[in-house]
Amino acid sequence: MFSFDHLSVPIAGAPMAGGTSTPELTAAVSNAGGLGFYGAAYLSPDQLRDTIATIRSLTDRPFGVNLFVPEEIPFDAAAFAAYRARLEPLAARLGADLPDDVPYTDDSFDGKVQVLIEERVPVASFTFGCPDRETIARLQAAGVLVAGTVTNVAEAVIARDAGVDAVCAQGVSAGGHRATYGILDTDPEIDTLPLTGAVVEATGLPVVAAGGVTSVADVRALIDAGAVAVQVGTLLLRCPEAGTRQAHRDALVDPRFTETVTTRAYSGRLARGLVNDFIAAHDADAPPVYPQVNTLTGPIRRAGAADPDVINLWAGRGFRAAQAIPAADVVASLQP
Ligand SMILES: Cc1cc2nc3c(=O)[nH]c(=O)nc-3n(C[C@H](O)[C@H](O)[C@H](O)COP(=O)(O)O)c2cc1C
Repeated sequence: MFSFDHLSVPIAGAPMAGGTSTPELTAAVSNAGGLGFYGAAYLSPDQLRDTIATIRSLTDRPFGVNLFVPEEIPFDAAAFAAYRARLEPLAARLGADLPDDVPYTDDSFDGKVQVLIEERVPVASFTFGCPDRETIARLQAAGVLVAGTVTNVAEAVIARDAGVDAVCAQGVSAGGHRATYGILDTDPEIDTLPLTGAVVEATGLPVVAAGGVTSVADVRALIDAGAVAVQVGTLLLRCPEAGTRQAHRDALVDPRFTETVTTRAYSGRLARGLVNDFIAAHDADAPPVYPQVNTLTGPIRRAGAADPDVINLWAGRGFRAAQAIPAADVVASLQP
């Protein structure tokens, strides 16, 4: 089974679902001596199987795959309809058709877990909740190291008790979706350094620290706090191997974008991104309805793909440190 001792650089490349993760980025981080992850949310099981084959054609080194744990809560049809109505003028301006009715989906979770087992991927990480004990045990029986992502100590204890091998501690500075277990949960807003120390102490498990890392000094501080590795996402967004859209790359260095916030505006789940017109206009109205709001805003994001004031510009608080350099150089620059 994979062990963090196998890494020559204690750096993980974050999974970044929705087009930012590519097999090339995952493999580049692993080939540089780190642990590359692929964010496999929104893929079908067959697409995931093909993606794993592509990653394996690009690297012989260990890599990880990340899935979103589904949580079905009662659908708030009234809140969804009200939000849909608020988005109508923008959709009309962009020529995007908003769906009337969005069914719940679990994103083929069980089917993708089965692929991870059959393919015996080295590492599987999970966010948005903890898989059940049986799922974790089935992965481990296939030789897969299982990591659960958490945002506070209570979640870390649940993950430990469910049998995970490692924990990814995601501080509030992190870019992209918050890993909070419940859609309706309030964000605990603990940042990466104190969270890492607390999770190490509470669980005794290997901890991967994630969120807001911009320098080797940050990496050293997190290792000193007990982390076995440090996971970076935002620092990889401008790498040539990433699938980041051009408008997103440009926004990361555009002086017009000055801050990040967490918002439910795009998906219904909290996620951190650069503040743009979409967030400014819709953050206050966005209901905690996931994944239906994510599906609802899809046509808007596709129609406005070149417009940084329309698309989600996921980024952590350290976004100004992201450079347009190969992923191997990012990993090397973080070797403590
Ligand atoms: C564009 C983007 C997409 C992300 N997608 C995922 C994902 O699919 N799964 C996941 O567990 N974390 C995801 N994250 C969060 C990362 O795993 C990680 O916690 C975060 O990037 C670390 O903080 P940093 O962005 O400040 O480096 C994403 C982050 C970004 C920036």
